[in-house]
Amino acid sequence: MAEIAVLGSIHMDLMVKLSRIPAKGETVIGGSFQVSPGGKGANQAVAVSRLGGQVAMIGRVGSDFFGDMLVERLKSEKVDIRYVFRGEGDRTGVALILVDRRGNNVIAVASGADESCSKDDVESAREAISSAKVFLTQLEIPLATVEHAVSIAYRGEPLVVLNPAPARQLPKTLLEKVDVIVPNALEAYHLTGIRVHDVETAIKAGKRLLRRGVAYALVTLGRKGVVVVSEEETTHLRGVKVRSVDATGAGDTFCGALAFGLARKMKIHEAAELANNAAALATTKLGAQEAMPTLMELHNFMLSNGRARRLGRPLIQT
Ligand code: RIB
Repeated sequence: MAEIAVLGSIHMDLMVKLSRIPAKGETVIGGSFQVSPGGKGANQAVAVSRLGGQVAMIGRVGSDFFGDMLVERLKSEKVDIRYVFRGEGDRTGVALILVDRRGNNVIAVASGADESCSKDDVESAREAISSAKVFLTQLEIPLATVEHAVSIAYRGEPLVVLNPAPARQLPKTLLEKVDVIVPNALEAYHLTGIRVHDVETAIKAGKRLLRRGVAYALVTLGRKGVVVVSEEETTHLRGVKVRSVDATGAGDTFCGALAFGLARKMKIHEAAELANNAAALATTKLGAQEAMPTLMELHNFMLSNGRARRLGRPLIQT
């Protein structure tokens, strides 16, 4: 069984990179087009696998060409696909993504088969969830499915990591079962009502999430890094300077790398530092999964920027 189980969406990303994101009613020409695998769930599973983690993906694709391609792709990334289900007549989820010259994006999702991802699917993957060291999920599939899976993980061994993306409000009954929550500034606002724009407001939102039942809140701030808030300590990990071309999938890279670090028994702030660096590196290339680093790439990057010494032990023994 895999050390990490990921439940979530699987999409085909249709991406246009252009000088700027059009305003309502406007057409901007001169962009370049790319089709690439995506979906927050699949992205997070691939992020784990690139680093050498064993990971099982739980989700749904359609019985169409995109579905065939995405399953093959997950297989080639060494993700366990035994729990990727396919419904006759379902369409695979698609994301339309616009990226501007600074790497900022907007994303529109047609959920397709994600919406059919059900409690029954979770039941079929019960063993993979309860025997994992870390269970990781997000919010691009029905909330009832997420809640069911989190309840299974909560009653078993795994550490429960929730990336509450896309942004929405969540019941306390779910948050109480979450060990580690990883919202960005907008998601933190939806969950807490606190407008997050800097380290101070991120810490405030993190503390409120603790009061709502989570054990650790990691509020990500893009270029400003991440704050790690727990009952014992509050730490700010500075952002990592890179030349960003596309932020798509950076949050997913963060979550996958975090899950990998936690499954390998790193302390929370070490796993967060690893994730912080992996996410920064992922913004230097176009696409979500294409941009995710291998363990060797991350190791070399963290040696070159001096962050490797913040990990308790080397990522790779040389
Ligand atoms: O987090 C990025 C992902 O969000 C994209 O790959 C897209 O598919 C959407 O789900």
